[in-house]
Amino acid sequence: MKQKQQQVLQIAIDGPAGAGKSTVAKLVAKQLNLFYVDTGAMYRAITYKVLINQVQFEDELNVSQIAKTAEVVLDHTDEGTVWCDGENVTQVIRSPEISRAVSTVAAYAGVRERLVELQRREAERGGVVMDGRDIGTHVLPEASLKIFLTASQQERANRRWRELVKAGKNVVFEEVAQDMRKRDRQDTEREVSPLEPAQDAVILDTTGLSVEETAAKIVALTQEAGR
Ligand code: DC
Repeated sequence: MKQKQQQVLQIAIDGPAGAGKSTVAKLVAKQLNLFYVDTGAMYRAITYKVLINQVQFEDELNVSQIAKTAEVVLDHTDEGTVWCDGENVTQVIRSPEISRAVSTVAAYAGVRERLVELQRREAERGGVVMDGRDIGTHVLPEASLKIFLTASQQERANRRWRELVKAGKNVVFEEVAQDMRKRDRQDTEREVSPLEPAQDAVILDTTGLSVEETAAKIVALTQEAGR
């Protein structure tokens, strides 16, 4: 892997929903003493804002307008608190309603432009592990290491279902799987910054791998990239 010309360590982790990005990214960030930036949470925060403003998700113009002025801030000092215009939205952005609508909102160029600006601002605060769909391809093209994390569709749906049940949500597995398939399609087929591995990304299939094993691989790759 080629050595990138930069001072701070930036690790980009992209991949589809349920691939384990956020859990793995958090652990890698902890082990390497970096900030964790959950960009999906930022798209979710905008989606929540659209919802409470009673704007239709399909109304691109007004959705983009909301995104333009929204201040989404990730708290780097604790367990990933997400703030949107001063409101703590950490919990509410995880609802199935937001999960179903977020890919529609995330497909709008106006929304992406605003959030990419905020994400790069987050990266200016220090070394980061940033996860999302377009981090290696678009947000941090000079990242020290780019990982494309994936897993079989069955395993990804299973993980997401278990996560929701653990959080006390009453969800049906087939519905979770169906929502996920729809979201995958929307994320990979959209025109602006679709989900795809960067040309220089390392593809890691996490099917059958634990979070610890996946994180260990990424830490080892980071050390290799730094040589
Ligand atoms: O990672 P997540 O499931 O919380 O992401 C929510 C949605 O946001 C996902 O369906 C696609 C979108 N997203 C995106 O388009 N670009 C990113 N960098 C991160 C997320």
